[in-house]
Amino acid sequence: MSRIAYVNGRYQPHRRAQIHIEDRGYQFADGVYEVVLVHRGQPIDEGPHLDRLDRSLRELRIAQPMARAALSQILREVVRRNDIDTGLVYMQVTRGVSRRDHPFPTKPIKPAVVVTAKRVVVPDDEKVEQGARVITIPDIRWERCDIKTIGLLPNVLGKQQAREAGAFEAWQVDRTGMVTEGTSTNAWIVTSKGELVTRQANHAILNGVTRLSLIKLARQEGLRFVERPFSVEEAKGAREAFISSATAFVTPVTQIDDRVIGNGRAGSLSLRLRQAYFDYMAGA
Ligand code: PDD
Repeated sequence: MSRIAYVNGRYQPHRRAQIHIEDRGYQFADGVYEVVLVHRGQPIDEGPHLDRLDRSLRELRIAQPMARAALSQILREVVRRNDIDTGLVYMQVTRGVSRRDHPFPTKPIKPAVVVTAKRVVVPDDEKVEQGARVITIPDIRWERCDIKTIGLLPNVLGKQQAREAGAFEAWQVDRTGMVTEGTSTNAWIVTSKGELVTRQANHAILNGVTRLSLIKLARQEGLRFVERPFSVEEAKGAREAFISSATAFVTPVTQIDDRVIGNGRAGSLSLRLRQAYFDYMAGA
């Protein structure tokens, strides 16, 4: 079955879908995006993703492209037309098309909207138990990482560095030695005292929708949880570590740089939260 993309009002064959060469997203990364997990054909946490999209648009003063219900309908239609059971929907909104000039166009332009979807395969239990390796790298991003912009060059370079080091993810580290987040995931540890820790959401990180769901689940499970920064050293000495995102769910981390975490297998609390998240998805 051929893939279908939504582009500015039309559903088109994915391979023929095109945007304008003077789209400000293409020229200035002047746009925002969301990635929504689809499970059994249903978008997971659609509301919080659309809320975050609204917020990103507002922060960059990009006009809302359409009513929320219309966007939701397109999201579902793209899932349906691509026959996605387990997968991801990508939504991108840019400021629109205008002759290249840095300031916003003086005349109002229509934001450009692209929605695509793809299938994903959930890794098997053995792979999850083995856990992922992460490396640590300096965080060289700007000071508004809370906005989900399509300007992702530092993230791309960081992820590539991870891949070349044989790792799954790179944890970015601020100037004070504290971990901010992964290049496309939030970072978590379980301390030697059994406390679940992730950095508080401010301008230094993207407030992950998966992160927010996990915080709720951790509270429901009665886990001891605290939002605070943690250092690379603390992470290396942690009992457990994991990452979260719409694409990684909860993925246990078993090595940070050259240091093995715990006994080198996925931690029990990480696996418990992964399961709680799958249960939550199944009930959605
Ligand atoms: N990335 N931090 C960063 C920098 C991210 O890019 C993402 C998501 C997250 C996790 O957010 P969420 O739980 O809402 O997926 C944290 C998406 C998946 C991506 O860029 O593909």
